[in-house]
Amino acid sequence: MRLDELQMKKGKEKIVMLTAYDYQMAKILDEAGIDLILVGDSLGMVIQGYTDTKSVTVEDMLYHTRAVARGAKNTPIIGDMPINSDKSVEDAIKNAKRFLEAGAHGVKIEGNKPKVVKTLLNAGIPVMGHVGLLPQTAESYRVKGKQPAEAQKILDDAVKLDELGVFSMVLECMPESLAGRITEAVKALTIGIGAGRYCDGQVLVINDMLGFDESFAPKYLKRYVSLNKMIKEAVARFKEEVLRGIYPDKEHTYH
Ligand code: KIV
Repeated sequence: MRLDELQMKKGKEKIVMLTAYDYQMAKILDEAGIDLILVGDSLGMVIQGYTDTKSVTVEDMLYHTRAVARGAKNTPIIGDMPINSDKSVEDAIKNAKRFLEAGAHGVKIEGNKPKVVKTLLNAGIPVMGHVGLLPQTAESYRVKGKQPAEAQKILDDAVKLDELGVFSMVLECMPESLAGRITEAVKALTIGIGAGRYCDGQVLVINDMLGFDESFAPKYLKRYVSLNKMIKEAVARFKEEVLRGIYPDKEHTYH
């Protein structure tokens, strides 16, 4: 489905987005039939092992976007513009075009950058905004918009992005009442992470919802499976069978 068609689901049907960083996961998500795949700069943490997204480069993102594009044949892909990739409008347009060449259908821009967003939209590049907690610049990860002044600023930023013409925006870590006000105020799809029930859709980092890291447990996160446990169990069985000479058996051997 095209991104502008997706936007027509607002108020009618919820939007489901997940992150992916590689070919196989993208293929699974594609086959599972979700609405959008985000190649998030969260890969800085879950793939590269950094503590935040601040070291992720455009080259890193493009590498993963290409892999995801090979796997997701039917699902629109959004490439997350990493820190410093949109410092100037010239950089932003050059890098966003590289994301499209790598197989993305649009880009996500974090924070309040009206000039950059306007330039990309004028160039025909679909943009997803991102307000609330902004990991690329945040000093600490905490819920945003609990105080009235901060809430008003987030609402104003969201409305501004909407007026510019973004097709959607991520609302990250905010009270659900604020996310509800934003969702009502904008035409764009609001896709929440830690932003409660009133958003137009929801996104989670795939590794988090699959339970790769049991120690990562923010309040909003629901784990749908514990792959950490399942992988450890499988590895333990493999180890045991190799040590005891059970694997490989006749069935798994060429004769
Ligand atoms: O980088 C990312 O995965 C994101 C999501 C948390 C929305 O921005």
